[in-house]
Amino acid sequence: MSTPFGGGVAVITGAGAGIGAGLARHAAKLGMTVVLADIDAEAIASLRDELEQSGAVSIDAVCDVTDPGAVSALAERVYRDVGPVRLLVNNAGIEQFGYLWDTPVANWNRLLDINISGVFHGVRAFLPPMIEAGEPAWVWNLSSIGGVAVVPLQAPYIMSKHAVLALTECLRLEVELAGHDHIHVQAVLPGAVVSNIFESAGGVTDGDVGAAESQRAAMLDIKADAMDPLAAAEAVFGQAAEDRFYLLTQPDYVGSAMTERANVLATQQAPRLRTQRRFDPT
Ligand SMILES: NC(=O)c1ccc[n+]([C@@H]2O[C@H](COP(=O)([O-])OP(=O)(O)OC[C@H]3O[C@@H](n4cnc5c(N)ncnc54)[C@H](O)[C@@H]3O)[C@@H](O)[C@H]2O)c1
Repeated sequence: MSTPFGGGVAVITGAGAGIGAGLARHAAKLGMTVVLADIDAEAIASLRDELEQSGAVSIDAVCDVTDPGAVSALAERVYRDVGPVRLLVNNAGIEQFGYLWDTPVANWNRLLDINISGVFHGVRAFLPPMIEAGEPAWVWNLSSIGGVAVVPLQAPYIMSKHAVLALTECLRLEVELAGHDHIHVQAVLPGAVVSNIFESAGGVTDGDVGAAESQRAAMLDIKADAMDPLAAAEAVFGQAAEDRFYLLTQPDYVGSAMTERANVLATQQAPRLRTQRRFDPT
């Protein structure tokens, strides 16, 4: 299949690990110049070296997505030194486990700053020059299967992924309303993909630490069967090239969660506890 991602510049936040690193490796393989943005300087420097050894061009850029000035400075640097952006991936994200009432305020604020405001800062810094350039360009925002589900002991994270999905849907309409036909806005909904997100997730210090940590353990269990980030990237790039709006790493697994959510809303069911959704790697 022909792909629009055979060249041009891709900017990927949170590119130092997991899904972001997988997307970066696949973008480089397709022939894109990849800007690796992350707060983990060592991780992106090492990925840059790896990509360069395979003949790809990449730039590592330390950038904290919670800092609007830093994200704007990154956009200026990319347009000045690298070229117009064909693909922006607002991917950086973190997890949090525990009862909502036990959640440290600092963890709550940090999660919202990264998972929601980070996406906003990316859109605000990069979309105007992408519009201005007049060339076809893509914005992908990382929601999640959690963006169409409700999960206890992960409320801040789940809320943030619902928010990113809604933001992305609204952004798509705004781009259409404003007549910017060359801009493609798409939502990425991964199922379970191998990454560091559960290890590096916040927990609780006061209150029910055991509940928070058993939820972390349950999620780490799912990770054992999770998808390889390179396979996830291939699926996402393929669906984006087909001009789909929802880009699903595991179409059957994530699609069934979407159907379930639609049914729950359509039949006005109250949320109910359930056993953990079995991971199906299809
Ligand atoms: N892994 C999964 O199964 C899964 C499922 C659904 C959605 N997602 C989403 O995919 C995205 C990537 O998650 P992942 O699982 O690859 O996580 P990960 O922890 O493996 O990688 C996240 C990267 O983001 C970076 N990062 C953290 N804070 C940052 C900041 N303030 N500024 C810039 N970079 C920052 C980290 O250093 C890390 O390199 C997240 O938005 C996550 O919610 C992941």
